[in-house]
Amino acid sequence: MVARRPLIAGNWKMFGRLAGLGELAALWDLTRQAGAALDMLLCPPAAYVNAAAVAARGTQLLIGAQDCSAVSEDSARTGEISAAMLADVGAAYVIVGHSERRSLHGESDALVRKKAEAALAAGLTPIICVGETLTQRQAGRVEEVVAAQVRESVPAAGIVVAYEPVWAIGGDRTPSVEEIAAAHALIRDTLAASFGEAGRAARILYGGSVGPKNAAEIFTAAGVDGALVGRASLKAADFAAIVLAHPAVR
Ligand code: PGA
Repeated sequence: MVARRPLIAGNWKMFGRLAGLGELAALWDLTRQAGAALDMLLCPPAAYVNAAAVAARGTQLLIGAQDCSAVSEDSARTGEISAAMLADVGAAYVIVGHSERRSLHGESDALVRKKAEAALAAGLTPIICVGETLTQRQAGRVEEVVAAQVRESVPAAGIVVAYEPVWAIGGDRTPSVEEIAAAHALIRDTLAASFGEAGRAARILYGGSVGPKNAAEIFTAAGVDGALVGRASLKAADFAAIVLAHPAVR
């Protein structure tokens, strides 16, 4: 079995300004030594993807977007941005199905799957987010909910899945290492059931309140191939501390 290359991804959400892209150079200064061991990805708001890709030239930092249209063809879709456009301006990845889009914008598994298909068609790697709410966890429904999301949102192998329990995002609580490992094993088995060995080989990230203090422990969870980081990806020093906490680097 080929070892899966770790991926540490940052999701800036609707934060940041053009002037803040200077953080990319600062980040690369701090993480250069990690470039051989793992992939580093920053997903700024769509308005800044192009400038971020330019700012990241000459580094190994990858740039991605936070969402894309489910429609591939150039067409009359005011406000939408196609995966092909994101690829055109330098994105390599795109996050789809983040819980904020699922809950605040009513995105269904079927729509997330179409967005992932559009991403793949444009040569982008989709990072497909799944994860249970607190109510679902308390009702003992984690396996049922997460497996269904994976079955219905993931169209093919060649993708990345991010396990992001909704209740762990934006706060200070995370699941235990055992709970994270269990969810990742479930996701991997579900991907394997759908797509065989190619599905089993997918990278699976943990996301939800990852920061410099807990990253090293989270990376010890079996089956965790990296992290999807929100708040702590906005400052170069914090994101670098997470990258450097990965056992592939240390
Ligand atoms: P957080 O966000 O790290 O700020 O909890 C994670 C995410 O929403 O991807």
